[in-house]
Amino acid sequence: MEKAMSDFVYYNPVKILFGRNKISELQTLIPDGKKVLIIYGGGSVKRFGTLDRVKEALKHHIVGEFGGIEANPTFKTCMEAVKYFKEGRYDYLLAVGGGSVIDGTKFIAAAIEFDGDPKDIFAKGVGKGLPIESAVPFGTVLTLPATGSEMNDGSVITFEEEQAKISFGSPHVYPEFSILEPELTYTLPKRQLANGVTDAFVHVIEQYLTYPVNGKVQDEFAEGLLRILIDIGPSVVDEDHHDYALRSNYMWTATLALNRLLSRGVPGDWSTHALGHEITVMNHTDHARSLSALLPAVMVVRKLKKWDKLVQYAENVWGITEGSEEVKIDTAILKTVAFLKSIGMPTNLSAVGVEEKDIDTLVKQLETHGNAAISERGDQTLEVSREIYRASL
Ligand code: NZQ
Ligand code: ZN
Repeated sequence: MEKAMSDFVYYNPVKILFGRNKISELQTLIPDGKKVLIIYGGGSVKRFGTLDRVKEALKHHIVGEFGGIEANPTFKTCMEAVKYFKEGRYDYLLAVGGGSVIDGTKFIAAAIEFDGDPKDIFAKGVGKGLPIESAVPFGTVLTLPATGSEMNDGSVITFEEEQAKISFGSPHVYPEFSILEPELTYTLPKRQLANGVTDAFVHVIEQYLTYPVNGKVQDEFAEGLLRILIDIGPSVVDEDHHDYALRSNYMWTATLALNRLLSRGVPGDWSTHALGHEITVMNHTDHARSLSALLPAVMVVRKLKKWDKLVQYAENVWGITEGSEEVKIDTAILKTVAFLKSIGMPTNLSAVGVEEKDIDTLVKQLETHGNAAISERGDQTLEVSREIYRASL
């Protein structure tokens, strides 16, 4: 049978407001009379004046604040926000921050209305994986382009006691709106800019580097986004380079990299993310750095499984036209490594503090978290994952 896209539903209700001074529109975006709880992280939005701008825009609303959502948001802190929201009788949430604050807000929004133990929103060894029937409405002001959380229905929460980083998704946790002001990226340090470019890059790879099903739109979109990231990445990570056009392209590319458009009707991998989450849980490595340390080994170890798409990646993303298919693939992998290095990202596990003796624990954790058969064909067993960890050392 001829290869073709599988059936799909695409639903994405997030209103995007992109450009300069969009925060001033908050007053009309959030219905009159709503009591708004602003959720933020470790304080960057206070330091750089974003929170003041938000509060000024919402001066006709009653607002409160809950800060302290960590990078890699924890269940515990989010549950404190749930309590604060209920006690204060709020009825709207506004996330102001990066992926962690937005993910935390999604969980807070769902947990407030969840009938039962909010842990059961999660599956994979933590809870029962029960469906969400509703969530508190919320919007976001994005300060770090990376995760795509501002325009998707997913969230990743860390459970410290269980040593687990688990995602959940529900149509009820799409933001009602997301404000994307490229100028908010001007305060990002080099490390976070490089993380953002890399996370977006790997999101596209996870949805593209699988096997071909003749999804022309998905492939062309994915290849375009990858080429843009390769092109602008090195300039983006220059933290002093406050070029509006450049940062606009960075921000919009990162959002489109994971608003689910690329993944409709085509297979997805997500094994780099599954293996990476275990590293972050183990030693707090930044999300994107865990991905970058693993990606080259995923490409090498899974070369035969991803052969056709790797050739396509070499030709269409890197413009490699000379040599055999294998030469093209190997050259593309080398170029990928060089690109990640050029923006200051680690490309092996020792660079993120993981040693050979840790691999048993990482593999065991994959099993505990229901990741014993992952990747686009479900054929990435624990043994294959072990091989990838070993090849990344
Ligand atoms: O906490 P504050 O003080 O705000 O500082 C943050 C944080 O330290 C800082 N920062 C954010 N915006 C800034 C800024 N500093 C200066 N200027 C600004 N404009 O950056 C640091 C990192 O922020 P964080 O939100 O943790 O980073 P990121 O956006 O990379 O989010 C990572 C989280 O998202 C999850 C990851 O697992 C991780 O927990 N992901 C969520 C996904 C989703 N919902 O679809 C998909 C991703 O694959 C990812 O798993
Ligand atoms: Zn990611």
